[in-house]
Formats: sequence, C-alpha cells, structure tokens
Amino acid sequence: MSRPESYFTMNNPTRPKRIMVAISGASGSIYAKRFLRAISPAYDCIYLTASENAVAIAQQEVGITRLEDFIPEGEEKRFRIFDPCDMFAPPASGSHDYDGLVVIPCSMGVVGRIASGISTDLVTRAADVCLKERRKLVLVIRETPLSVIHLRNLTILAEAGAIILPAAPAFYGNQDSVDDLIDFVVDRVCRAIGVDVRLIEGWGE
Ligand SMILES: Cc1cc2nc3c(=O)[nH]c(=O)nc-3n(C[C@H](O)[C@H](O)[C@H](O)COP(=O)(O)O)c2cc1C
Repeated sequence: MSRPESYFTMNNPTRPKRIMVAISGASGSIYAKRFLRAISPAYDCIYLTASENAVAIAQQEVGITRLEDFIPEGEEKRFRIFDPCDMFAPPASGSHDYDGLVVIPCSMGVVGRIASGISTDLVTRAADVCLKERRKLVLVIRETPLSVIHLRNLTILAEAGAIILPAAPAFYGNQDSVDDLIDFVVDRVCRAIGVDVRLIEGWGE
C-alpha cells in the first residue's frame, strides 16, 4: 500500500474541522445542550463524551437519560460519542488534528484532575493534549463558593493556557428569560473557540 505524500496540516483551510466537547458532573447540563445546538453546523465532527455523574445530573436537570440525547435532532452525522474511559479515542492523541476541548459544564473534580496532570480518562487526557499542543481548552466551570484549592487549580490551568469561563451570565442586556441567561454564557463560549455564532447582541452593537 502506498503512503500519501502528505496529510492535512492545521493551516489547511480544507482540513476537517473537529472539536471535542465533554460534559462533566457539575450542575448546568442545559448549557451543554444549548452549546451543542449552537456549534454543530460549524463543525464536520464533534467528539462527545460525558462522565457517569454528568448523565445522572442531566437526568435530574433536563430529563436526558442518555448521552445521545444531547445531540441536536438532524445533526447526528456530525457527532462521535466516546466512552469516558476510551483512551483509544482519536482526541486522546496529540497526533490527531482537532481544534480543542470544551468542558461544559466543568466540575471542580475535573479541574483538579486536569490541573494535576492526572490523565486517567478521556477528558483529562484530551485536556492534557490540548494544553501540550497549545490548542483551545475552555472550561465552563460551575461551583460556588470557590475554595482556595479550586482557585489554585484554576490559576494553574489559566497559566497553562486554558480559558476559564465561569457559567456566570450577565444581566445588562435586558435578558428576560432563563433561555436568555443560558444564551449569554453559551455565546461567550462560542466566542472563546472562535465559532462565528452570535446568540446575544454585544454591548454597544
Ligand atoms: C446534583 C449534583 C450537582 C453537582 N453540582 C456540582 C457543581 O455544580 N460543581 C461541581 O464542581 N461539582 C458538582 N457536583 C459534584 C460532582 O459531580 C462530583 O465531584 C464528581 O465526582 C465530579 O467528577 P465528574 O465531573 O468527572 O463527574 C454535583 C453532584 C451532584 C450529584
């Protein structure tokens, strides 16, 4: 079998656009649902995974019982679902070309594990890959109040290049529904990964 002369490079505009999204065991599964709906048309492939706790919490919060149910209707072909322990999944390797990882919502447990470099599951390994390869790592954290341990871990991650994006909506845009508040946070995540989707009007626009 002959080898191709070369493969796609990160700067090739025709390369497949891929991203990984992980749902962790923090409150806020509604953010993940809205985010996946907003970004799916912008990607050829979205790698999706969730911790066991994440699916249990999603059942409590949004009535979702299976990870598959996070996939927007009609968009199934863009998604690949991975078991959270699947270390053979493509995003577990830095040699696989994908844009980055968004953990939404992101628990303090995941923050702690990424900050200490414990790559024992797919999310923490993909996060490790994104940091070492200088790809986007966006952590949509949700916890309150924050302990010194949380703050130290978040500082380590920010210093390593992660974008710490608290699920903290603003109220200056005349938001009048919970959906508006969710859209505010999801819009900021879209901006953080450079997806050209606007869910809210920017201040002064
Ligand atoms: C209903 C429920 C809500 C939770 N909300 C949060 C949260 O908002 N932030 C957080 O850091 N942990 C939260 N936790 C705890 C995490 O699920 C737990 O620490 C878990 O081990 C984190 O690991 P995982 O994200 O891999 O599931 C919650 C747990 C439950 C059962």
